[in-house]
Amino acid sequence: MKTNREWILRRRPEGPCVVDDFEYRESEFVNPALEPGHILVHNSVFLCAPTLRNWMDAPSNSLYPSIDLGAPVLATTAGRVLESTDDRFPVGTRVTMIGHWQKYDVVNSAVWPVRSVPEGQDLIEAMGPMGMNALTAYFGVTAVGRPLAGETMLVSGAAGSTGSVAAQIGKIMGCRVVGIAGGPDKCDWLINELGLDAAIDYRAGNLVEQIHETCPNGVDVFFDNVGGEILQAAVENINKFGRIVLCGQIAGYNESRPVQGPTNMMRFIYGSVRMQGFLLGDYEDELPRAREDMATWINEGRLKHREDVRTGFENIPTVYGEIFTGTNEGTLLIVTDEDAYATN
Ligand SMILES: NC(=O)c1ccc[n+]([C@@H]2O[C@H](COP(=O)([O-])OP(=O)(O)OC[C@H]3O[C@@H](n4cnc5c(N)ncnc54)[C@H](OP(=O)(O)O)[C@@H]3O)[C@@H](O)[C@H]2O)c1
Repeated sequence: MKTNREWILRRRPEGPCVVDDFEYRESEFVNPALEPGHILVHNSVFLCAPTLRNWMDAPSNSLYPSIDLGAPVLATTAGRVLESTDDRFPVGTRVTMIGHWQKYDVVNSAVWPVRSVPEGQDLIEAMGPMGMNALTAYFGVTAVGRPLAGETMLVSGAAGSTGSVAAQIGKIMGCRVVGIAGGPDKCDWLINELGLDAAIDYRAGNLVEQIHETCPNGVDVFFDNVGGEILQAAVENINKFGRIVLCGQIAGYNESRPVQGPTNMMRFIYGSVRMQGFLLGDYEDELPRAREDMATWINEGRLKHREDVRTGFENIPTVYGEIFTGTNEGTLLIVTDEDAYATN
């Protein structure tokens, strides 16, 4: 007999989510007869993606539908296909996907993003250095921000999973890169480990002035993971023809209402500034090139990555909350069994 384990959304969080917003359930699991284009996956790794918090809200402006109360939490997961009616993902394939906080997970792979994990890569790598956040950073910088060598690039959330990769790609492209992060330890790491040119602790001092001091020639490209006051401060320092890459707005995710934009829009007009949002899925056809570039940079030691790996399916909601307090050090993952470390 197989036992399924799952975390259900019990009520809509008010502010940061807490364990009582969810209910843990165990039940006997019998493989269902799959409809065409579906896969049954045994999940082994759960990525703490900030945007899940948006999906916990009532229907609003999020791209994905909101999670129904009483339904398993929609989530970024990785695991192995146990049964399949989708020829792209035969039994035994390892995948990363939008699944659920469930051990046994049935997903409509015709609708939700599912990507195969190549042989030789374990699920930690597939969710970390070669994962969706890293690839998001790749396209956000190379396709949306398009910085030129010698330009100044500013990155918020720079010590996090997506931001740390974006910042390093900026360096690889020949930019002067300044990172914004919470606290002196993260700032030290950005400069001493990742080789950024400067780092700003956004919790200490006036942010507009700190950006002005560390970016004396202004900001050409701002890669924004945070929004709110940090976006506003960057806009105050943006150069003529500046580009703002809207990757995330984490500062507003706990508020359960649409996130506010910057206040001085005339600055965009007089500065001929471009601000653009994007999703990794916009670049699905270009993933092979991205993976090749990323692998080369990692092998050459030019791109570093750190994962913050926790364990235990029972700990998912508690660990997930840490993404909003900044206690994560790198890509925050929860591993729930040894298949996470298999490479084929
Ligand atoms: N567009 C896309 O397709 C896409 C894909 C992936 C991720 N994203 C976005 O990228 C951003 C980063 O996600 P991630 O998964 O890489 O997480 P992460 O950066 O590894 O972790 C989140 C970090 O955000 C910072 N943070 C949290 N609340 C904050 C607040 N109120 N103000 C300022 N900083 C705050 C914390 O770092 P500090 O200690 O520095 O505060 C925390 O460690 C999110 O906005 C996410 O939605 C977008």
